[in-house]
Amino acid sequence: MDQSLAAWQPRPGQPLQLDPVEVPQPGPNEILVRNMAIAINPVDWLLQDSALFPWLDYPAILGSDVAGDVVAVGSIVARFKIGDRVLGQAVGATTNRPAHGAFQTFTLVLSNMASHIPPNISYVDAAVLPLGVGTAACGLFQKDHLALEHPSLTPKATGKTILIWGGSSSVGCNAIQLAVAAGYECVTTASLHNKDMVRSLGASEVFDHADQNVVDQVVQALRGKDFAGALHATGNMQHCFSAVSACDGRRFVSTTLTPPADRAAGVETNQIFATSLKDNEVSDAVYVNFLGRALAQGKIRPAPPAQIAGSGLASLQTALQSQKKGVSGKKIVVTLDN
Ligand SMILES: NC(=O)c1ccc[n+]([C@@H]2O[C@H](COP(=O)([O-])OP(=O)(O)OC[C@H]3O[C@@H](n4cnc5c(N)ncnc54)[C@H](OP(=O)(O)O)[C@@H]3O)[C@@H](O)[C@H]2O)c1
Repeated sequence: MDQSLAAWQPRPGQPLQLDPVEVPQPGPNEILVRNMAIAINPVDWLLQDSALFPWLDYPAILGSDVAGDVVAVGSIVARFKIGDRVLGQAVGATTNRPAHGAFQTFTLVLSNMASHIPPNISYVDAAVLPLGVGTAACGLFQKDHLALEHPSLTPKATGKTILIWGGSSSVGCNAIQLAVAAGYECVTTASLHNKDMVRSLGASEVFDHADQNVVDQVVQALRGKDFAGALHATGNMQHCFSAVSACDGRRFVSTTLTPPADRAAGVETNQIFATSLKDNEVSDAVYVNFLGRALAQGKIRPAPPAQIAGSGLASLQTALQSQKKGVSGKKIVVTLDN
């Protein structure tokens, strides 16, 4: 196990290139995962196309979502042992360490950014979760965002309602599930054909984001509710800010992308950085104390559903292109046969 294979990003604007890489040793709080499935996120093709993160050196190993088997554990890791099936949010694009990237045979994962995969969940299904969960968790639970109650296996109703704009996206699906598990009612937007899917994840009301009256419909749905703020996962950000500005309650939008300068007045906002939970209490609240058990008990479902783009690291380039073309209520996944 001295060498492994990685899909390197040589420079921005170039295709992935398969080359060997040394298998790293886990640091004290890390686990080494032999990847069995890797999922694709928009940031992966963004970082392939351009140097979006100025701190990231190329050649780089991109990718955030892994599911696989633990093959080595760091000296202070007590939650995992060799042979455990795990999912993990890989943080290489933040730490600027290729060993932390997902697009390779073995990935070093921070133990507080990993959860056990229960026997009832496949590697493919588990791989759809990490970045969607992590991003949603930053927006919902961090003190500098919506600061909601943490998720629980036995949630108590808070009596409060939140708005998730873009409920069928990867971030949106997981934001709905985590907010419901934290005791909040969830109003959301999606295309009509994804309405049943987002409802099945726990959204109480779903509005068609393509309807020209969507802002009024959302405002009407939130009237009289104890409003706890919004998470903008995807879609028209101006619409989301307009709806929130017309609501009573917490006028705050946590955003996945840069908030527009000319947004509706009187609405506070903050942009999510999806790996920031690794350094605060939210990773414990979600990855350590909640996600593995919630999956085992069926309280969180892998969503959006996986769409397999191929097998082997050589399929990652096609998978990136599929994600870039756009998905609707689906997560692109590549399987590895290690
Ligand atoms: N800040 C961070 O750290 C961070 C982390 C992760 C993601 N992000 C960003 O967050 C966004 C969402 O990421 P994701 O992985 O969740 O995306 P995704 O799963 O690829 O999003 C797909 C969804 O976007 C919806 N959509 C596409 N075009 C739309 C439009 N014009 N209006 C409304 N909805 C539209 C579709 O909904 P329907 O099919 O139902 O219409 C589709 O289900 C991306 O911009 C991503 O780059 C940021």
